[in-house]
Amino acid sequence: MAEKNTPNYKSKAEKLALLTQKNEEALLGGGQKRIDAQHKRGKLTARERVELLLDEGSFEEIGKFVEHRATDFGLEKEIYLGDGVVTGYGTVHGRLVYIYSQDFTVFGGSLSETHAEKIVKIMELAMKNGAPIIGLNDSGGARIQEGVVSLGGYADIFYRNTLASGVVPQISAIMGPCAGGAVYSPAITDFIFMVENTSYMFVTGPNVVKTVTQEEVTSEELGGASTHSTKSGVTHFSSANEVQCINEIKQLLSYIPQNCEDTAPVYAYELGDEQRKKLDDIIPENPNQPYDMREVIDGIVDEDSFFEVHKNFAENIVVGFARIGGRSIGIVGNQPASMAGVLDINASVKGARFVRFCDCFNVPLLVLEDVPGFLPGTDQEWNAIITNGAKLLYAFSEATVPRITVITRKAYGGAYDVMNSKHIGADMNYAWPSAEIAVMGAKGAAEIIFKREIATDSDPEVKLQEKVDEYTEKFANPYRAARRGYVDEVIFPNETRKKLIRAFGMLENKVATLPKKKHGNIPL
Ligand code: HXC
Repeated sequence: MAEKNTPNYKSKAEKLALLTQKNEEALLGGGQKRIDAQHKRGKLTARERVELLLDEGSFEEIGKFVEHRATDFGLEKEIYLGDGVVTGYGTVHGRLVYIYSQDFTVFGGSLSETHAEKIVKIMELAMKNGAPIIGLNDSGGARIQEGVVSLGGYADIFYRNTLASGVVPQISAIMGPCAGGAVYSPAITDFIFMVENTSYMFVTGPNVVKTVTQEEVTSEELGGASTHSTKSGVTHFSSANEVQCINEIKQLLSYIPQNCEDTAPVYAYELGDEQRKKLDDIIPENPNQPYDMREVIDGIVDEDSFFEVHKNFAENIVVGFARIGGRSIGIVGNQPASMAGVLDINASVKGARFVRFCDCFNVPLLVLEDVPGFLPGTDQEWNAIITNGAKLLYAFSEATVPRITVITRKAYGGAYDVMNSKHIGADMNYAWPSAEIAVMGAKGAAEIIFKREIATDSDPEVKLQEKVDEYTEKFANPYRAARRGYVDEVIFPNETRKKLIRAFGMLENKVATLPKKKHGNIPL
């Protein structure tokens, strides 16, 4: 923790003496009252968090003698070494990361001009040296006493977040308050983690909300981990406590490369018999019966390697990292167990963001498809399912990493095109014998194209069933698509893992380039 400066500190000789072992210990571990106060809030201190996250003894601190320069409101008398943020670098599982950790015990972790400069410094180092940036946020926002220079400091960080986007992975953990414009730095980063009951994020807090909209809401309801992991989707992870949160950050890092020119770490894996018989029993006899796509994922990937992202948001699509034969992949799967796996606005945005992360950082993509189409309704149309669905379409179309699709059951309508079809650049497309690839479900199709025939029949119900059977016979299988080459191979579920290990290996050196442009214009 930061130590409040003492009068002794003003002498040059004594300032140097701070560097002796004894004084350094005081500097780093001082302020027991402050440490206790932080623990009382149910939170770890900034330094404890850094210690937990980094490999033992690997932390190198940068800027621990930085002091703020403010003189208004008597601030010149309140100097804390390090100015409320611990910054530096270290390793996680032996790999370099840059880190900043805000110290709530110093002016509520608020961001001053110098506090911002320290963060900017490590962001620039991270970009130049190609390693992830991890921000542990615990701050009351802009330091109120400093006025515009603290706002400027935030903008300096937002700007670096944007420049670093797609260059190095950026991870934000919210471990305390995060209010006002301060939420926009985490929002630009790739992944947000929140801790239940001790962290919150909002642009305007409950008091302002009450004044403007007359709504009464607690901080937790407005912007707690549960709200943002289920309702808004702002956070990708919600952890029960800080230790779990930090462990999950480490786990995430194990799947991703250091920067956009690197590839993810490969874990030793000895190949054996890669058949997985249990995959044969997942798809129910009745095509309208749900099943859990996570069971398919577990049957395909290396044991216990699936690390789900955005688990509690838009549950009709499942996204996450896994390993197959020791190599990282990103998985996007429709989830028949939730809303029949239909694509809606939230699912499209969730999927698109994940696909773009994987494409930025060279993580190959696997799509597991069972989708009855886009969700109909005024709510979806008025909230722009057109624009939002297009995000997923655009994200897949633009991705140049190896891309493989396995159609497990339904691939209907526009969703067939969107879910990494061959037509938009997928490298390999497999289908299970249970696949149905059609413009729509058999009943809906029969009702439209045989409308008159059914209506004029002496027994419309029997006629409808006859036409449904006819349509099913024609389209409720993968062979029409396979004859055209839209599907490369129809495979048994039990051989999926083996096929994917080989296909991803075959695609390992894939090179694909997009037309020259400044940047595309994804439909935001
Ligand atoms: C200076 C601050 C501070 C701030 C807290 N403190 N926020 N000091 N600037 N922004 C100080 C408090 O004065 C107090 O000092 C100590 O930190 C702990 O704060 P408490 O209020 O006692 O703690 P708690 O009850 O846990 O409440 C925490 C809090 C609250 C919810 C964060 O302090 C708060 O509402 N702060 C203001 C939040 C805010 O409006 N920030 C500006 C947002 S706008 P002492 O000396 O008593 O220990 C913004 C613009 C960003 O950030 C611009 C980007 C575009």
